[in-house]
Amino acid sequence: MKVLIFQTEDEAKLRAAQIILSRVQSVPNSVLGLATGGTMEAIYAHLIEGSSNHSVSWSETVTFNLDEYWGIPADSAASYRTYMNEHLFKHIDVAMKSTHVPASSGDDPSDAAQSYEDAILTAGGIDLQLLGIGKNGHIGFNEPTSSLSSRTWIKTLTQETRDSNRRFFERLEDVPKYALTVGIGTILASEECIIVGTGVDKAAAIKAMIEGPVSAACPASALQMHRNVTVLIDNDAAQNLDPMEYYQHVHPEGRETELSNV
Ligand code: PGA
Repeated sequence: MKVLIFQTEDEAKLRAAQIILSRVQSVPNSVLGLATGGTMEAIYAHLIEGSSNHSVSWSETVTFNLDEYWGIPADSAASYRTYMNEHLFKHIDVAMKSTHVPASSGDDPSDAAQSYEDAILTAGGIDLQLLGIGKNGHIGFNEPTSSLSSRTWIKTLTQETRDSNRRFFERLEDVPKYALTVGIGTILASEECIIVGTGVDKAAAIKAMIEGPVSAACPASALQMHRNVTVLIDNDAAQNLDPMEYYQHVHPEGRETELSNV
């Protein structure tokens, strides 16, 4: 894993936006995997600003979101479809028909999951997957103990995740109990991943992801098996990492290594 540690959370998020923007600029028909949550809000604000400042067009870009609650209308205020429309899609020139979010309702969640997985394969797979990380180490809604080779599926949310997401709903009872999520195996099949975690709340999960055993107890640790992952974190989230001098030596303050200077 490439571990980039920044002084502030905004620097980490800005770098994530820059990586995505340069991908869209250089390969306009990229297939992007996108995420939701508090961390992503600033990243999307940077993306919107960067797209407008540098005239980057998303007109050929295809997106697949990681997950969606199951059992709420897609157009409800708390759905991830609404989140994406509000925080990103309506502010850039992406074709709405090229934006995909898993279904939030239907007769059979397993069928909906399979259709979503098939759509990703038909699009040629994910070129660049953006990820956040839960306090419990989840990626997408793959909660601890999820199969590391899972494909898009229906998952039961932990109480901790429901409590964390309570802020987006009026009452705790309104927070869905289930979600459709791209699987860990689906994420591992992407060409490249960037994962962003900031703040002291994420420090334990970040340590388990980077330095812990590969284990379903921390789903993000499966990324140790991916060949092209960049971890973007701030000092607070990095505080438990062990060979800190090494990470700082390789990428001082989050800078890329310049091999010509080595
Ligand atoms: P957060 O969620 O950005 O709201 O902390 C991240 C996640 O649960 O994946």
